[in-house]
Amino acid sequence: MKASVISTAILATAASAAPALVKRQSSDIDGTILNYALTLEHLEATFYREALAKFSAQDFAAAGFNESNFYENLKTIARDEQTHVDFLTTALKGAGVTPVAACTYDFGNLTPSTFLATASIIEGVGVSAYLGAAALITNKAYLTAAGSILTVEARHDAFIRQNINETPFAQPFDVPLDFDQVYSLAAPFIKSCPASNPMLPVKAFPTLSVAKNVTMPVMQGEFITFDVAADMKVPAGPLFVAWPLATGTMFSAAIVSDCTITARVPVSVYGPAGESFAILTTNATAVTDDNTVAGPAVVEIMPLAA
Ligand SMILES: *[C@@H]1O[C@H](CO)[C@@H](O)[C@H](O)[C@H]1NC(C)=O
Ligand SMILES: *[C@@H]1O[C@H](CO)[C@@H](O)[C@H](O)[C@H]1NC(C)=O
Ligand SMILES: *[C@@H]1O[C@H](CO)[C@@H](O)[C@H](O)[C@H]1NC(C)=O
Repeated sequence: MKASVISTAILATAASAAPALVKRQSSDIDGTILNYALTLEHLEATFYREALAKFSAQDFAAAGFNESNFYENLKTIARDEQTHVDFLTTALKGAGVTPVAACTYDFGNLTPSTFLATASIIEGVGVSAYLGAAALITNKAYLTAAGSILTVEARHDAFIRQNINETPFAQPFDVPLDFDQVYSLAAPFIKSCPASNPMLPVKAFPTLSVAKNVTMPVMQGEFITFDVAADMKVPAGPLFVAWPLATGTMFSAAIVSDCTITARVPVSVYGPAGESFAILTTNATAVTDDNTVAGPAVVEIMPLAA
């Protein structure tokens, strides 16, 4: 059976049992990746469900989000995220892997505006998560299924960015992130998970946050300040801020002073633009989990004019 046929079969059976063929072809790594994706989809689905329960169309309109269909579109996003949860849960069960259940989350005390700002970050991280995982998926049918979710997350992201006056597609390439990088961005929202959830091989790095006095978006070429936790032991020796990019990670020298780190945003048409990620590392040529000191931080960067 051709991969395209299998993936159609998987998609068609989202709500029922996944086909036996999936079970035979699945491998441990694919089950782990699907559970990692499901971890993020649970977070997204809960995030939208809670916000839509809290805020009405009138609440958004009063906050300036009054375009016709705005609220309907948010409801569609919420439905998509729940459908992704149901789909991945069914696919994992069909492959004989225990799916992770939802955790409890803390998204802070959101307003319509801060909800949308957080939504844009979460959608962007979701895109980077699927993109980073794609190369590791061994089953082509899963790859097609994951790709079909990725493109929809990218459209959610574009819709939300447009509505908060950020460029909907700020760069010609989206940024792939690895498991630990993504988990580091998701972890602050996750309070606790059911003990029965399968353990995933992910860990969160120490937090790197854009300093409170920085106004985003920042420009390429601008120096920007980050904070690390006051009790964090920052290694001595040269440190760098890595800007992961699909076309090749860029690096800036990091100027460290106590728990503040300052670095210049790289200047290039291929450089970071839109929702971008900054990672504090000890290596100036390759950022890996082993040489990551803190981060990623999410940095919104003004795209260069076309
Ligand atoms: C949205 O609000 C603006 C400013 O209050 C107003 O000019 C516009 O007509 C409103 N649009 C809709 C679709 O209600
Ligand atoms: C923000 O504060 C840091 C000191 O914590 C300072 O070095 C930096 O210049 C400030 N940045 C802006 C944009 O004011
Ligand atoms: C940086 O990473 C590269 C590629 O992995 C490696 O060859 C090099 O030794 C590393 N440099 C340092 C200072 O760790």
